[in-house]
Amino acid sequence: MPIDVTLTTAAPHEVVADLLAVPVFKDRVFGPGVEGVDAALGGGLDEFMAETAFEGKPGQTLAVPTQGRLGAKAVVLVGLGDPAELTVDGLRRAAAAVAKQAAKASTVATTLLDAAPEGADRHDAAQAVAEGVVLGSYRFLRYKREPQPSRLERVLVLGRGGARVRAALDRGVAVAGAVAWARDMTNEPSAAKSPADFAEAVKKLMRGRGVKVTVLDEQALRTERLEGLLGVGQGSERPPRLVRLAYEPDGARGTLALVGKGVVFDSGGLSIKPTSGMEWMKTDMAGAAAVVATMSVLQELGVRTRVLGFVPLAENMPSGSAMRVGDVLTYRNGRTVEVLNTDAEGRLILADALCLAAEAEPDAIVDIATLTGACMVALGDKIAGLMGSHDGWVQQVRDAADRAGESVWPLPLPKEYRKLLDSEVADLRNIGTGTYGGAITAALFLEEFTGSVPWAHVDIAGPSRASSDDGYVSKGATGVGVRTFVELVSRFRRPTGPQGSGERGAAAKARGSRRAGTRAS
Ligand code: BES
Ligand code: MN
Ligand code: ZN
Repeated sequence: MPIDVTLTTAAPHEVVADLLAVPVFKDRVFGPGVEGVDAALGGGLDEFMAETAFEGKPGQTLAVPTQGRLGAKAVVLVGLGDPAELTVDGLRRAAAAVAKQAAKASTVATTLLDAAPEGADRHDAAQAVAEGVVLGSYRFLRYKREPQPSRLERVLVLGRGGARVRAALDRGVAVAGAVAWARDMTNEPSAAKSPADFAEAVKKLMRGRGVKVTVLDEQALRTERLEGLLGVGQGSERPPRLVRLAYEPDGARGTLALVGKGVVFDSGGLSIKPTSGMEWMKTDMAGAAAVVATMSVLQELGVRTRVLGFVPLAENMPSGSAMRVGDVLTYRNGRTVEVLNTDAEGRLILADALCLAAEAEPDAIVDIATLTGACMVALGDKIAGLMGSHDGWVQQVRDAADRAGESVWPLPLPKEYRKLLDSEVADLRNIGTGTYGGAITAALFLEEFTGSVPWAHVDIAGPSRASSDDGYVSKGATGVGVRTFVELVSRFRRPTGPQGSGERGAAAKARGSRRAGTRAS
């Protein structure tokens, strides 16, 4: 049941709620509403904070006894740290801390919105507060004998604001709901999400959401010559699928294609992973989940961009029918690929989906995938890698991620590394020669299937999962990418200007010339 988040102008010390959450800055500086609470309690809040070593650090909380002197049954102080360093994402985290404190309450009131950082847009702040409380309440409980869900039902956001602030709160609830769907799907054990199950779940989710869903079964995959999906999926008893999604609003401004890796379990195939490497491989469809979740809220958010989704789904298993090392796949764009490691399967199924996306001639393509361990070596497990074929488009994705509060960092796509993908027998090999630069060679492989459409690639092998609870992130699947993609489609601009990316684009510019043949064509 979705949490109800409403704006109200009630005074903090009078509002009726199970819990009132008020912010305190670094060095115990009172935030909005604390003064009134302190007065109603007869003073002494300062002393109480000092006695309990509460300093107002980010993430810190402190329950305060109220002796029935306030409208709220209980009060909790929430640390926000240094106001000069506070960001909208900090507010999102604080809102999650409030939700965690309120897990046993049904109604919580908070003045957090009025603590929004100076210079921040109040609507962005409102959206972040709503996202924080909903995501902070998230738990994956389907398989618990005695599930203990958060009891939070209602959040009263105290402060001024009209219809637009209310709309921003609604937007935050919708976006967080989509993130929660992606987390649920990604946390789900592989046994319960075969490619066919996943496709069914997508159909069900999209009902009444203004998105057309087409599912290509095995037969259709053969007709469409989607050999990467067929090859990767052939070792599993549960055949692959490709889900095509289309959101086509009237008077759309431009078309964007989203592509998400959907490997429902990655054992590595015959190039089998060690046990420890498989522990998290039920989450190897996090990219697919992010694409689907994003598309599920486009209508509700009134997005004016036409958005196409391409979601390849397969299970990577070893068996007598599995794809062999050395097998060659022929793609619909004519490229042949020698499979030298069946564990580099994500790029093989993404290649099919990218071909289809490019054929639809969108203004731009972005893909999202739990693609390489190498990206985690480069950036750690909290930052996604970002690469692409068009500087302006890559920048647009980066800006969207920044606005959404999701961490991405660009990696270069140097043309000189392309030869690491040369094969003896085919056009390409599916793993780079040598040990290094695996995130980059994977992206260079993908680029071969993007035609002449501006393309960006987000490698979420790291941030798709969290090893512990942290702010609005809970241990397990994070639903990363959904917030970035919602921002991206909401403010989509057709990429303009030359292709070329990273060092390649920069180098070309420095030479004052636009290099032909930057793109594979
Ligand atoms: N799904 C994995 C990547 C991955 C690793 C995601 C760890 C999340 C956490 C991908 O299919 C894979 O196995 N990649 C290989 C590529 C290699 C064989 C070239 C890798 O990164 O080791
Ligand atoms: Mn793999
Ligand atoms: Zn994989």
